[in-house]
Amino acid sequence: AQYEYLIVETKGEKNNVGLIQLNRPKALNALCAGLMGELGQVLDDLESDPNIGCIVLTGSGKAFAAGADIKEMEKKEFSDVYSSNFLNNWTRLADTRKPVIAAVNGFALGGGCEVAMMCDIIYASEQAQFGQPEILLGTIPGAGGTQRLTAAIGKSKTMELVLTGNKMSAQDAEKAGLVSKVFPRDQLVDEAIKTAEKIAGLSSIIVAMAKEAVSASFETTLREGLHFEKRLFHQTFATKDQKEGMNAFVEKREAKFTDS
Ligand code: HXC
Repeated sequence: AQYEYLIVETKGEKNNVGLIQLNRPKALNALCAGLMGELGQVLDDLESDPNIGCIVLTGSGKAFAAGADIKEMEKKEFSDVYSSNFLNNWTRLADTRKPVIAAVNGFALGGGCEVAMMCDIIYASEQAQFGQPEILLGTIPGAGGTQRLTAAIGKSKTMELVLTGNKMSAQDAEKAGLVSKVFPRDQLVDEAIKTAEKIAGLSSIIVAMAKEAVSASFETTLREGLHFEKRLFHQTFATKDQKEGMNAFVEKREAKFTDS
């Protein structure tokens, strides 16, 4: 399919990685309704494609995404945003069951930072900058910025970003735990694809369970989360891939997973 705001490719030796590039560079990949609609469609396609085991999401030019589209939002009234449940469809990305790696190549601001945080792993280029500058526009984060950022870097650093609108460098974001690795810009997407290929080469069913278990830690109490984890752990023993993985270890050979 052809998209107005995205470039979509398959990557990896086995073509098992879906690469989505946000491609609205003139507006620094501002996340307009059209772009988010296309992103939802692509995620539906990649999720239903059994050959795809992992997804990489990146930006273009100097931006990952500079936020929700301010020009689209400027004139909206409370009654418009409330009755249309404005931006509710953004949860599509967070609900993705296959793992998603954000390769943040530049500005990840406002909704752009929130989109990165909906992904499972964040890699950044040395030039990347993160921030929740909504306060400077007279509004507040509305797609997880006050919640996911707090979970990632704690209260004091989140308050500082959300209350001042200041930006955080890739290096500081890595130190704070928002980002797992920082790369030179020209290596960023390749490194993300390499990690995605490794994940896509494992058992997709076990990978999905692992993602579900880690994700639960953000939504529940420790007691409930540990219970959920234990149930999923037990369920892995109902799969062929657990038998194969453990047998391969014992026989000192490489596992051949069948996603079953
Ligand atoms: C619409 C945007 C935009 C945005 C940039 N542009 N960000 N358009 N929405 N969020 C457009 C500019 O209007 C301009 O187009 C072009 O992109 C280039 O931007 P410049 O400002 O000229 O670039 P530069 O001087 O390099 O500054 C880069 C920047 C700045 C620091 C990233 O663009 C900026 O501060 N952008 C806004 C960041 C922001 O506030 N994001 C949060 C949005 S609110 P034209 O055609 O005008 O030249 C939000 C709410 C989320 O995300 C809530 C729930 C999802």
